[in-house]
Amino acid sequence: MKKKITIIGAGNVGATAAHWALARRLGDIVLVDVMEGIPQGKALDLWQCGPLDAYGGRVTGTNDYVDTAGSDVVIITAGLARKPGMSRDDLLAKNVAIVKSCAESAARYSPDCVMIVVTNPIDAMVHTAYKVSGLPRNRIIGMAGVLDSARYRTFLADAVGVSPQDVNALVMGIHGDNMLPLVRLANVGGVPITDLLSADKIAEIVKRTQMGGIEIVNHLKTGSAFYTPGLAAVEMAEAVINDTKRVMACAAYLDGEFSISGYFLGVPVVLGEGGIERIIEFKLTDDERQALQQSVEVVARQMEATGL
Ligand code: 2OP
Repeated sequence: MKKKITIIGAGNVGATAAHWALARRLGDIVLVDVMEGIPQGKALDLWQCGPLDAYGGRVTGTNDYVDTAGSDVVIITAGLARKPGMSRDDLLAKNVAIVKSCAESAARYSPDCVMIVVTNPIDAMVHTAYKVSGLPRNRIIGMAGVLDSARYRTFLADAVGVSPQDVNALVMGIHGDNMLPLVRLANVGGVPITDLLSADKIAEIVKRTQMGGIEIVNHLKTGSAFYTPGLAAVEMAEAVINDTKRVMACAAYLDGEFSISGYFLGVPVVLGEGGIERIIEFKLTDDERQALQQSVEVVARQMEATGL
C-alpha cells in the first residue's frame, strides 16, 4: 500500500524535504503550514512535476491536520530559523510553542506514525514533541547526526580527494557547537582518516563541521541551510518507509545507553518500520565520553528551558 508522509512547515526545509521525498518516490505527501496558500501553492507546483519525472505520488497542501490523518511518517520542520549572530538556543522559546502544537495535532491524527523532528534546537524540540505527542520513544527521532555526518564526510572527502560516498564518519551528541565528530572511527573505504590526513587538518575539519550550520547562516544572512537538512530528514524517512535497517546517527531517547538516561542525543541507531529499532552502543574513549557529557549538560539546560 502506498505510504503517506506528512511534512509540517512549508518553508525552505519543509518544501525541500517534500521535493526530495517526491523525487525518491516515498509515497503521497501532505505539506502543512499555518500560512494560508503557501502549502497549497508549493504542493501544487511539486505535484505538477509528475509528468516530467516518474510519478512519485500525490502532493497535497493544507492548513488542516485532518488531511494528515493516517500518516506513516511525520516530519516536523515548522519554526523559526537562525539569522547571523543567533545560536540555535536563541530559537528555543518561540519554537517550543510551535513544535508543541504541531506534534500534538499530528499525533492525534496519526497515532501510529514515526515522527522526525527537524526544528531547532533539535535535541530540545524532539524532547518537546516526545512529551506532548504520547508517542513511544522508538517512534520519535531527531534529525541532526545525518546532517552533521554529511558535512563531516563532505569536508573529509574534499581534503583526501575522494568521493564523499566512500567516507564513513559519525557525528554524535548535540546538534550544536559541542557536537562530537568522531575522528577515531572516520575512514575512507576502510582506511583510517588518521593515516590519510594530518592531525591539524583533521582538527580544522572537526571545527568546520561543528560550525557547519553557522557557516551557511553567515552566507545566507536571511536564514539557515535547507537542502541537506531536508534530504537528511528524507533519508531517515526512507529507511522507515522501506524498512531498510540502515544505520544513521539520530537524536534518540537514551535510557541508560552510553551511561546516559533521560535525554535525546545523537547516537548511531538502526532505522526500520518501527522507527528506532536499536541503538548501537559501543565503547567510547575517556575523551569521547567527556565530550559527550558536555553535550548532555547543554541538552539538560535546553530541556529545562522547554518547561516540559
Ligand atoms: C543547520 O545546522 C539547520 O541547524 C541546521 O544547518
